[in-house]
Amino acid sequence: MKAFCQLVLLVTLLIISGVLPSCVSQTTRRFEFNVEWKNVTRLCHKKPLLTVNGEYPGPTIAVHEGDNVEIKVTNRIAQNTTIHWHGIRQIRTGWADGPAYITQCPIREGKTYTYKFTVIDQRGTLWWHAHHSWQRASVYGAFIIHPRTPYPFSVPIQDEFPIIFGEWWNGDIDSVESEMMKYGGGPAISNAYTINGLPGPFYNCSNKDTLIKTVEHGKTYMLRIINAALNDELFFAVANHTLTVVEIDAVYTKPFKTKAIMIAPGQTTNVLLTANQVPDSSGMFLMVAWTYLTSVFPFNNSTTAGFLQYKNLMSTEHTSQHPNKVTTFDPVMYNFPQMEDTKYYTKFSDNLRSLHSPRYPCNVPKTIHKRIVAVISLNLQDCPANKTCKGYANKRFFASMNNQSFVRPALSILESHYKKLKTSQYSTDFPEKPRKPFDYTGVDPLTENMNTEFGTKIMQVPYGTNLEIVLQGTSFLNVENHPIHVHGHNFFIVGKGFGNFDVSKDPAKYNLVDPPERNTVAVPSGGWAAIRIKADNPGVWFIHCHLEEHTSWGLASGFIVQNGHGPSESLLPPPKDLPSC
Ligand code: C2O
Repeated sequence: MKAFCQLVLLVTLLIISGVLPSCVSQTTRRFEFNVEWKNVTRLCHKKPLLTVNGEYPGPTIAVHEGDNVEIKVTNRIAQNTTIHWHGIRQIRTGWADGPAYITQCPIREGKTYTYKFTVIDQRGTLWWHAHHSWQRASVYGAFIIHPRTPYPFSVPIQDEFPIIFGEWWNGDIDSVESEMMKYGGGPAISNAYTINGLPGPFYNCSNKDTLIKTVEHGKTYMLRIINAALNDELFFAVANHTLTVVEIDAVYTKPFKTKAIMIAPGQTTNVLLTANQVPDSSGMFLMVAWTYLTSVFPFNNSTTAGFLQYKNLMSTEHTSQHPNKVTTFDPVMYNFPQMEDTKYYTKFSDNLRSLHSPRYPCNVPKTIHKRIVAVISLNLQDCPANKTCKGYANKRFFASMNNQSFVRPALSILESHYKKLKTSQYSTDFPEKPRKPFDYTGVDPLTENMNTEFGTKIMQVPYGTNLEIVLQGTSFLNVENHPIHVHGHNFFIVGKGFGNFDVSKDPAKYNLVDPPERNTVAVPSGGWAAIRIKADNPGVWFIHCHLEEHTSWGLASGFIVQNGHGPSESLLPPPKDLPSC
């Protein structure tokens, strides 16, 4: 009996510690997603909006760590689609990752594909979104992984809720994308930012489309914040309240207090908020998100807001006087960072550290097998003869990594790789260094030759490679913050800085103890970030800027992780219902 109890204890401990994640007591959670049109009205503009199950934002997926997840996606629209589970590592299940033409061919009209994967050793807030053309403008939702063990912070959580930022266009998103690609100009900017699909009181016709969250005085809440906006980094803050950051991209962090957070497209941040203020007679505090601006291009200079409403003050008398009264937002009035406050962002991001506790160690690779230097830049391409180009100086915009603008192939790279197809349309010769070094962040933004080259070049590494990628920004056209997202792996941001990365000095300053671990890094504007990846997930993984316009212009690449030894280090075979091209 005693031995049996010890065995049970040991197995439990192993499960808790993530050593035995999937072989004991597994739950399968099933969801059905119908990608369909639904008429939605915002800002007094009614339009058919692409949704999942008619919901905007889409349904929240909530599972527990270790769960098997099966999401049956049915395409009920007359165009292709795919869904990506942003931040889920998809260990050995790359077939379920979702980026169109990278890991699968799209799901065609009327067809169904069931994404199957296991959530292994991850807990916290992630999200899902369409990964085909610009469909993610409205096809997105929260993906919440509840932990199997208590949170590493001791404050009792009264309640938790997602706060998802998005963008709303009055017009049709397909034409925003096609206009942009046809003429090579910048995209039409969105008409509103939204929180949970609601623009809030600073916009026309939106008083009723305002998020109101009720809280009780003295209680602590967990906000699961997601930036699903297409093209904008955002600040977020709650008037008079302090936010305690406890998790980023579904990885616990050393808790720290801040007035405002900066969250780039693709990123998620969990914060704790204690309702410890004394409200005025309205009982309301503004929750607000506004642009963190680093670019010189036209942008959506508006503010989305909702309200925290203290419960004890809820009465008809009070509810009659709130949001409608609020008309303008000035961050200075609240002592929040202003739009261009890069100093604030830098300090904020310096505070992000992995928790690095015995239970949640920081497994940053201390040594590397390979260092890649990838210059991320915008480009200005000469206009082809007899074409109209609407980018700067009558040329057209593109974007690239090491001057390679990524072109999606017509066949999924993962399938080509797995089946070793002769017809494959990619090559594994992505340049590991810029062809000729130059003063990346110091050149004149407008007079350089900024033409790019086109291709489907990715990298390939053996299983288990410790890979370092230095993401180096440039001043081509302008310096700008770029949220670079890596599929299939988390990475560690071991270093970052402004100006040009210096291989002889910067690595000595890396944080190899508790660097932040995440899936999307906001590379400093006019600077660089060094990320380390343990490439231990066999498959094909997209790397791209999570500003949708930059991805469309080619700011992307990817990497193949080859199989290691034996089945546990090898990609699973493709599912039977994998869509064909
Ligand atoms: Cu959230 Cu490749 O994307």
